Amino acid sequence: MSETYEFVVVANRLPVDEVVGADGGRSWARSPGGLVSALQPIVRGHGGAWVGWTGQPGDAPEPFDTDGMHLHPVGLSEDDVDRYYEGQSNGTIWPLFHDAVEQPTHRRPWRQAYESVNRRFAEAAAQLTAVDGTVWVHDYQLMLVPAMLRELRPDLRIGFFLHIPFPPVELFMQLPRRAELLRGLLGADLVGFQRPLAAQNFLQLTGRLLGLDPQEQHVEYDGRTVTARAFPISIDVAEVEKLAADPDVQAEARRMRHELGGDRRLLLGVDRLDYTKGIEQRLEAYGELLADGTVSNDDVVLVQVATPSRMRVQEYQELRARVEHQVGRINGEFGAVGQAPVHYLFQSMNRAELVALYLAADVMVITPLRDGMNLVAKEYVAARYDDQGALVLSEFAGAAAELTTAFQVNPHDVEDIKRALMDALNADAGEQAERMRPMRDQVRDHDIDRWAQDFLTALGKS
Ligand code: ADP
Ligand code: F6P
Repeated sequence: MSETYEFVVVANRLPVDEVVGADGGRSWARSPGGLVSALQPIVRGHGGAWVGWTGQPGDAPEPFDTDGMHLHPVGLSEDDVDRYYEGQSNGTIWPLFHDAVEQPTHRRPWRQAYESVNRRFAEAAAQLTAVDGTVWVHDYQLMLVPAMLRELRPDLRIGFFLHIPFPPVELFMQLPRRAELLRGLLGADLVGFQRPLAAQNFLQLTGRLLGLDPQEQHVEYDGRTVTARAFPISIDVAEVEKLAADPDVQAEARRMRHELGGDRRLLLGVDRLDYTKGIEQRLEAYGELLADGTVSNDDVVLVQVATPSRMRVQEYQELRARVEHQVGRINGEFGAVGQAPVHYLFQSMNRAELVALYLAADVMVITPLRDGMNLVAKEYVAARYDDQGALVLSEFAGAAAELTTAFQVNPHDVEDIKRALMDALNADAGEQAERMRPMRDQVRDHDIDRWAQDFLTALGKS
């Protein structure tokens, strides 16, 4: 029998993506997104296994060990990528769970592929986990896995954590085969969400759709008690602090500032290029401030890092075109030779470069229309050991519940974004420190280790 593991994480993506070079050669690179940032230190710490996809269509490569983790790839065919990943996960569930800021599409073949791929993930986890072990399933791509896994392996403790928002009851009700998704999640012993309201929505739905009788944080189902509660996710604070204290990273931050124009104040956006992130609203607000003369290209510069994401999905291609058009328009209208008001980077970065940007930024601008948490907000705060810098943060990011002294903003209201940007730019050193200190305390007290420990303790993992 092949080797088994006491602790197994199951997520759509492995922490590394397979990259195919121009010459057809294959290598591995860190995968995009908050889930990987959050989970990697935990799986490493437990010497656990990770079941996930490589990011490329085709047969799964052999399992391998790296960085203290055992990685077990699951293969997705071109069709699976099309229907399960780009279709049901990112064309149906993702927009619906983010307040339908883009119109969700409903297709039967997508739902069928979602089910069959979920089954494959469940089977892989069932094979890999030791008797009485713990499996932690993650995110909206795998909501059927807990029930499928329980059927295969009733001896396991099964946890599930949703990294994205869980929608209000009325929106969830739009989903075809909605009851099946709920039953899928109820296969877990513990279902975790970013916010308490999400857990309440879920419990309420178990009453409405399945006729169960939820009580506060629990519901009885199939002879078991399922607990649903909030566990706001966080970051590896020590990793960010270590980078921020590194003299090379600090020198890089100074170099960046210098190259961007000496004493121009630096606004920074760092997002996956996703329509939930409010990048267009942010650019619109900045463009209007330049147009009405409230800020000038001589005084201020915006660096927008947009990580490529889901680029085969039409909505993402269209978003890219709109954002790049907007950047071009602003630079064309308000730029000067050798001095652009927006620096736009459509690329991935390493952790040190990101932290250098955080240190260089006077104002971090985070304006999602809806976001489960937003780890970039917490990373910015953790990096600011100097208690300086200002955070403009959407009320619709999960992080807003903890980072209450940020300049909070309604991202649907461009006037409000303009107001918040100006308040942040005008905050003096004293006000910046007064706002930054409590946010730093909050993030340091609630780092990723505490999050994982809270979840796994509640799950009953020893
Ligand atoms: P999401 O999970 O929706 O992508 P989060 O803000 O929660 O959003 O997490 C994003 C994660 O990806 C953060 O850890 C951030 O540091 C990382 N990240 C964002 N942009 C880049 C980039 N250009 N290159 C590398 N990592 C990035
Ligand atoms: O939680 C948001 C999320 O979907 C994660 O599951 C994932 O890590 C990240 O965004 C990146 O998305 P994708 O895996 O589709 O590139």
